[in-house]
Amino acid sequence: MVAARLHVSLLEPAALPAVIALFDHEFIFSRGRTISLAQRFSDTFSSGDCFIAAGKLEDHLVSALAVRAFTWVDSDREWRGAMFGLVCTKPQYRGRGYAAELLATAEARCRALGHDFAVLWAANQAIYEGLGWIAADRGMLGTRRIASRNAALERPVMREATVPEIHDLHHTRVDPRVRRQFPNYWHLPLSAERLRYFREGNSFAISGQLGRTGNVYELAACGVDMPGLWDALCSNFDELYVNVECDSESHRWLRAHTPLEWQAQALAMWKPLRPDPAPFRRWYIPFMDRI
Ligand SMILES: CC(C)(COP(=O)(O)OP(=O)(O)OC[C@H]1O[C@@H](n2cnc3c(N)ncnc32)[C@H](O)[C@@H]1OP(=O)(O)O)[C@@H](O)C(=O)NCCC(=O)NCCS
Repeated sequence: MVAARLHVSLLEPAALPAVIALFDHEFIFSRGRTISLAQRFSDTFSSGDCFIAAGKLEDHLVSALAVRAFTWVDSDREWRGAMFGLVCTKPQYRGRGYAAELLATAEARCRALGHDFAVLWAANQAIYEGLGWIAADRGMLGTRRIASRNAALERPVMREATVPEIHDLHHTRVDPRVRRQFPNYWHLPLSAERLRYFREGNSFAISGQLGRTGNVYELAACGVDMPGLWDALCSNFDELYVNVECDSESHRWLRAHTPLEWQAQALAMWKPLRPDPAPFRRWYIPFMDRI
């Protein structure tokens, strides 16, 4: 039940600063994080593949979310996906159905654009379940905690991989995958402050760094190269959080050869948008590509 009439619009880029300010307040600065989403997700916001659903009361912006259209390549078939993210309503306006109204408007827009499915990642899935989203996550999080910095782990700075190298490997090794452009490699998820790219032979890892903590957003393993890649990750980070797909080659290698402690993830939620059902229960979209 909507309490006061919300005016919902799909925004042009010119209206973006006010929305970024809302997103930054909710997801960055009120949570002690740094770096505006304008910079973190510049690839998303500057692309024609993104739209914002914004809810206003008179001229006052109270609620917003972002949608990023993407191409999902699964063997010889391409799917048109829509990622939903940054869903927020200002605290004093919560519980009035505003987020639900924006989600419905954005979903209708995606159907009109011919998208096959939508996906989002939510810590609180209850909000979306009632709106018809289906929970299904193949993600595993591996954690290695080290209480204090281990000087013995220090090594000379190693050469890090370049974006074109990683892109080539991603393109040839990862399937299914999000079709990426180079700017997508500067996409900086929360709460990292910089990105690091590691490569050993045909294995690679894309990591975010915050202090001495590494958050591995994508890891593609080729068994023979994995000892070197793991070594590189351990020598650059004390705490490590590694995101991989359950029972992938990466997961199996890490489970067998490292002390990572594993936890199944329950974040991904999906919504088929066409009668032709998307086989989303077997899909895993890396952190690197998410909004
Ligand atoms: C999550 C958030 C966007 C909800 O906004 P809102 O405008 O209050 O949401 P709505 O009033 O439209 O509620 C939508 C549905 O979610 C439910 N819901 C809302 N907040 C909820 C909560 N914290 N826990 C469980 N259910 C919740 C509502 O009951 C409603 O379900 P119903 O239609 O069955 O009654 C808002 O609380 C927020 O901005 N939170 C901080 C940012 C955030 O965490 N965003 C989510 C990122 S995944």
